[in-house]
Amino acid sequence: MNCTDNKIIIAIDGFSSSGKSTMAKELAKRIGYRYIDSGAMYRAVTLYALEHDMILADGSVDVESLVAALGDINIDFLPCADGQHTLLNGRDVEKEIRTLRVSSSVSPVAVIPAVRHALVAKQQAFGDGRGIVMDGRDIGTTVFPDAELKIYVNAPAETRAHRRWLELQEKGDTTTTYEQVLENVVSRDHIDMTREESPLRRADDAIDLDNTEMTIDEQNEWLLNQFNRALTGKK
Ligand code: DC
Repeated sequence: MNCTDNKIIIAIDGFSSSGKSTMAKELAKRIGYRYIDSGAMYRAVTLYALEHDMILADGSVDVESLVAALGDINIDFLPCADGQHTLLNGRDVEKEIRTLRVSSSVSPVAVIPAVRHALVAKQQAFGDGRGIVMDGRDIGTTVFPDAELKIYVNAPAETRAHRRWLELQEKGDTTTTYEQVLENVVSRDHIDMTREESPLRRADDAIDLDNTEMTIDEQNEWLLNQFNRALTGKK
């Protein structure tokens, strides 16, 4: 037996702005696992596409050019004092990938099968050796169907839009309105659920969490309990 034998994979899926990243990050910190934000990877590819004029004026994607460029897109994560930063070809893009410009273009990028295949392969490689907390839309269904702990987080669109709008305000964005954020959340929910490739879907063996009425501390405690249970079940 070696020390990795008892490490598990934790898959946390859910709608945008459901608070899953906050709790996933905190759990990873508490239990000493690596945290991977799979949404950040789709956002980084989107930023690359925007910067290389592959998102057309009507919002559609120049799929051929983007697919041809996939080999040139390297995404990684760098642990920093304020949390993990996303690197796009070695450049820290953590702030840029969270802007509404990227949020508004990410859905049509995330539906491209070749983009998904490339990112899923990279996500699975991050999980080699287990000991990982990953959040996204298809982690429990497609990326790690064998994850020992799967959580499906949900909350109404208005609650999630309000959270994302507050986050933007805290980051100094005073121009984006709540209505714009809500519109973006609703439209992304729709695309996430109805796309052909790996739609957002609750894994049959996932544990549901509606966190509307929970504080962040309560969510963290709840998740830690689920982790301890999953670990006990594995022993
Ligand atoms: O979680 P997020 O809002 O940062 O995700 C950004 C986008 O990426 C969102 O539109 C859905 C997509 N995504 C996905 O399709 N599959 C994942 N595993 C993670 C995110």
